[in-house]
Formats: sequence, C-alpha cells, structure tokens
Amino acid sequence: MEKKKFYITTPIYYSSGNFHLGHCYTTVICDAIARFKRLDNYDVFYLTGTDEHGQKVENNAKKENMTPKAFVDKLHEQIVSLWKLLGISYDKFIRTTDDYHVKSVQKIFQKLLDNGDIYKSEYEGMYCTPCESFWSEGQLLDGKCPDCGREVKLMKEESYFFKLSKYQDRLMKLYEDNPDFISPKSRLNEMINNFLKPGLKDLCVSRTSFKWGIPVPFDDKHIIYVWVDALSNYITALGYLSEDPTLFNKYWPADLHMVGKEIVRFHTIIWPALLMALGVEPPKRVYGHGWLLFGGDKMSKSKGNITDPFLLCDRYGVDAVRYFLLREVPFGNDGVYTNLAFLNRINADLANSLGNLVSRTTAMINQYFDGVLPKPSEKEDLDDELINMANSLYGKLTKHMDELLIQEALEEIFKLISRANKYIDETTPWILAKDPNKKARLGTVLYNLSETLRIIAMYLSSYLIEMPQKIMDCFGEKLPKTFDDKNVVFGQLKPGIKVEKSGVLFPRFNIDKELAEMDKLLDSAKKEEPKKEEQKKEDIKKEISIDDFSTIELKVGKILECEKLEKSKKLLKSKVEIGNETRTILSGIAKYYYPADLVGKSVVVVTNLKPAKLCGEMSEGMILCAEDKNGQVVIVSPEKLVESGSIVS
Ligand code: ME8
Ligand code: MG
Repeated sequence: MEKKKFYITTPIYYSSGNFHLGHCYTTVICDAIARFKRLDNYDVFYLTGTDEHGQKVENNAKKENMTPKAFVDKLHEQIVSLWKLLGISYDKFIRTTDDYHVKSVQKIFQKLLDNGDIYKSEYEGMYCTPCESFWSEGQLLDGKCPDCGREVKLMKEESYFFKLSKYQDRLMKLYEDNPDFISPKSRLNEMINNFLKPGLKDLCVSRTSFKWGIPVPFDDKHIIYVWVDALSNYITALGYLSEDPTLFNKYWPADLHMVGKEIVRFHTIIWPALLMALGVEPPKRVYGHGWLLFGGDKMSKSKGNITDPFLLCDRYGVDAVRYFLLREVPFGNDGVYTNLAFLNRINADLANSLGNLVSRTTAMINQYFDGVLPKPSEKEDLDDELINMANSLYGKLTKHMDELLIQEALEEIFKLISRANKYIDETTPWILAKDPNKKARLGTVLYNLSETLRIIAMYLSSYLIEMPQKIMDCFGEKLPKTFDDKNVVFGQLKPGIKVEKSGVLFPRFNIDKELAEMDKLLDSAKKEEPKKEEQKKEDIKKEISIDDFSTIELKVGKILECEKLEKSKKLLKSKVEIGNETRTILSGIAKYYYPADLVGKSVVVVTNLKPAKLCGEMSEGMILCAEDKNGQVVIVSPEKLVESGSIVS
C-alpha cells in the first residue's frame, strides 16, 4: 500500500544568535509529531531552516564587524548544532540565502507581477532614520519611534505593493470551508475580528532602504520584503518553480505549519493570499502554539534560570529537555520555565515513574529468574486491566496526535507507566517469590511488566530519543521503525530471552541540592568565556619558516559520501574525492554535523599526513576544521567553488 504523505514545517528561524530554550520549542514539538507520523507509516517530510535576510541581520552584522553572509553562516552553524543536539529529525534544512531559494523567490515575485497582483506606488509613513523603519501613526509612542524614542519624520518611499485587499473574501471563505485551517480556535477568532473584519490593506512588499535581501528581479533598486522571501521557503524548499518540482508535486500542500502565536497572522492571512495569487493550494493547517515564558515575559534572556539548551542538555541529557518542553506547556497556551519546575518534572516522571518501573522490573527478573524472561502462564483478572490499557494505547495516541494534543498523548503513556507501577504493588512479586508454588504466577507478573515496558518504549520513541532504546537494550531488542499489526499488540517478547538489569536509567535529584548546583553552573557559564580566551593566548605556537610550512601538503577535496562510524560517538567517516583519487578520512565532528549535511561539501585536506588507524578504521588524511572559543566546530571550505585536487598554499 502506498504511504500517505505528511508535510510538516517549523518557521525558519531568525539568525539572531543566543538561542534559548524557547527557540527549541517549535522544533521539538514538530520533531515529536514527525517521529510519531513516521512510526505510524506516513511518508513524512519535515522542513526547518533559517531566515537570513533583512535589515536586522544587516545591522547586527555591522555591529559585529562582519559581512551579513559571514554573520548568518556563523548562526546557521550554531542552530544546526543545536538541532543535532536535540535530535531534531528534519528531512531538509533551507537557508533563505541558498541559491535555489533566491531564484524561486524572484520567479514568484515576477509571477505575482505578471498575474496583476503587484503594482508600484508610494509608501508613506513616519520614518525613524537611525532605526531605518517606517511606522504608522498608531504604532508611534507619544509621536516618537516606538523602538528608540527618537523623532520621526514623514517620508515617502517608492514601493511595490501586493493586492492583499483583493483576497479578503476568499480568505474568509477558506476559513469557513476549512474549520481546522487555523487552530486553536481562539486564534481563528483573533484573525477574523482583528484583521479580516476591519478590512485588509494592500501590503508593501519591497524596500529600498537597505540592501541585504533578494533584489526585485525587474527593478534591483528594490529588495523583496523579508516576509515574502521567508514564507516562500515552504514551497521553494520543495522545488517550486525550479527545474525539479518532484517534491513539490508530492508533498504540497503542507499538512501542518507549526508556528508561534505571534506569527499566526503572517501564516493565515498573507501566506494563503500569496498562494491564491500564485494559483497554488493553501496549506491544510496552521497551528499557533503558545510561548515558553520566563517570569511573565516571552523568554528572552536568563535571569537566574538556566535557559541555555546546551547547558541543560549537557547536564540532564537531551531527553530531559525534550520531555519538559513537550509535557510541561499545555499545548496551545503559554507555559513557564523555572529551574524548579524543570527538576520537579523530570524527577517525578522520568526518574520516579519510568526509571523505577524499568529498574524494578529488570532487577526482579535477574533476582528471581537469573535474568531470563519467564513465560506467562497463570493469568489473573488483575492482569487484564494492564493488558487492555497497553492494547488501547495505539488508538488513543493516534487520536491525540491527530488533534495535536501532545501533552495528552504523553499523559496517556504515563498513565500506563503508573498503572504498571501500581500492578507491582498489587501483585507483590517479592511475596510471591517466597512461595515455591507461586513461581508460575511470579513469572506471569514479570512477563506482563516486561511486555508493558516494550510497548511504553516503542511509543515513547516519538518523544524521547535515548531512554526508549535504553529500555529495549535491557531485552536485547531494537526499537521498531514503524507500528504494525503485531507490535502494537501485547505479548511480543519471547520468553527465554536474556534480560539485563537496567542500572539507573535516569538519576533522581535532591531538589534543593540540585537547585544550588544549577546556580553554580549558571555562574561558571557566565565566567567561562574570558577564561577560554586566556587559555587560547597561551596556545600560540612557535614561528616556522616557509620551508617548514611547505612540507605540509594541503588540497581541496569534495565529500562524496559520509556516514557515522558505528563504533564511535565522535567520528564521521567520509569518502573524499581529491582530484583523481578517493580517500577515506575520519573526522571527530559527529557532534557538529549530520553526515547528510556534508555530502557535496568542498573541504581542505592535509593529504600527506601519515595514515592512522582510529577505532579500527584507517584514515588517510585530515579534514581541516576551525574551533571557536565556545567550542563550536566548523569545517573550513574554499570561498568559491574550485576543482577537487586543487593545491592549497
Ligand atoms: O518568527 N516560546 O523566527 P523566530 C515558544 N523568522 N516559542 C518561541 C519562543 C518562546 N519563548 N521564542 C521563539 C520568526 N519561539 C520568522 C519566521 S516563517 C516563514 C518566518 C518560536 O526565530 C517562535 O514562536 O523569531 C517561532 O515559532 C520560532 O521560535 C522562530 O522564531
Ligand atoms: Mg520571532
């Protein structure tokens, strides 16, 4: 049977740097949905990316004395390593500075003009020169710039406009015909009452006041408005208006655009109107999620709480962070992060409920059955409740996930975990173990618990990425790639298999002590940067002559294939073309790159380095990388395309 497709997107992220826990929210949510759908036999395409144009980027780059491209390159590397850390399973990462995107956006703009939806006129508004921003009368604060508080003056700028007003009625009809187009419902009402009912105005879609963007194809004084550029990513990523629109034909319309509530208007008014103008179907659904708050604000920077996802993952593991994000915020509403809420949540659910169930079950099988899974034989009525609950989970989860009730889905899994813990208390295996006549019953109880764990691990694998496999490891089993008629049904583990003790699956924290530790961690993170700089200074190597340097042979190579080395956490194994030869090279960069992201990249290789064996594999050369003071590692790549084999000197 052909699989049903499911196209899911996150917004593309502004490249502003300093990524905090709030930034991880949309991607982790989408990742859980994408993983669930893949397990549920859908052909999933999960898109994310970065929004790299606009005046803000131009200004921020200037502040750091960088070109805008160098600036966005740096942030792009940062965000890719963040997604890698969090196990985000995207199928494609788009950058709005990618060539193919730029070309398609220009074609889109041309098409809008050709269809009569774009016209030239004058944009009039109050202008703040230092901020280079137009404001409407209503946006001004006491007649001054709302951003910087300085004087504004009336200015006119020649601009292109999109006939947004023309689509008012068709948008209303779209909402009426598709009640799920905008959810949750509250956001639909907001769009209708605040925007459609008062009447839509045409939209200014070009700027002349800055340069960092995509030029209007027929008038390159003008830069295409950054939201037209950004929204288009959802179709340009699939090859819309390119030589190869296969993906577009297959996956469009999007099944779900997941976005934060502050950008619902762009996705439910401007975006479908642009698509209507292009003659392209609108997306099926836009979901506006709430914010992760920090003391009442949309979280921006840390004020005594650890908000750095790198720090949190490092100390508590990626599953703790993912679990908190997915479970704590009532989906659709805002939620609050505090160190305390985080610790309480992971202590109660991951350490106590789940961790306990796994360690108790596997320890008892080792103690009473020498680590061999017993056969179920003596059933009691009590077992049915547990078994029925496990068997009904698939139906409940698919329903919740279809309705995007992610919290409820997780709650459902944790209800089964609690039920299983209660089953231990009810069946009292330690008492059964004292009576030789109860051996068969004891075996049945422990089999039922093991099988429940298998089912729990299988479903949890959409949400968490390390613990589910660790649970399966106890039984020597792999997690299934998809749900099927068999594995969703209770009773799959084979009696007689070896069961390993789990050890501590997730540590339990003493909350007060750990809160103090978190404070220390935060302090040392603040002090860390200058410390690293000092170290670097001492690292300066002694001078060498040009002759010394010329003993090193450097050449440009092109990565043809790349994969993770099974035996190592750090190493990637690449096949690199260097002129006429192909070499195998190992690099310790698995933490920073997905193998797929490297294929096709040009790199610089030390070609006369003595071959060396790493983790049992030969490496014939070294790929050059740069490491910054934050420990961020990036590959060194030629600035322009050159043939592989070219000498670097
Ligand atoms: O808006 N809580 O990008 P962005 C929850 N480039 N979600 C948060 C959050 C928080 N504290 N902070 C940020 C943009 N987000 C545009 C999108 S799409 C064509 C262009 C979420 O980097 C935010 O709601 O400002 C959004 O979904 C995502 O992070 C990217 O936000
Ligand atoms: Mg934003």
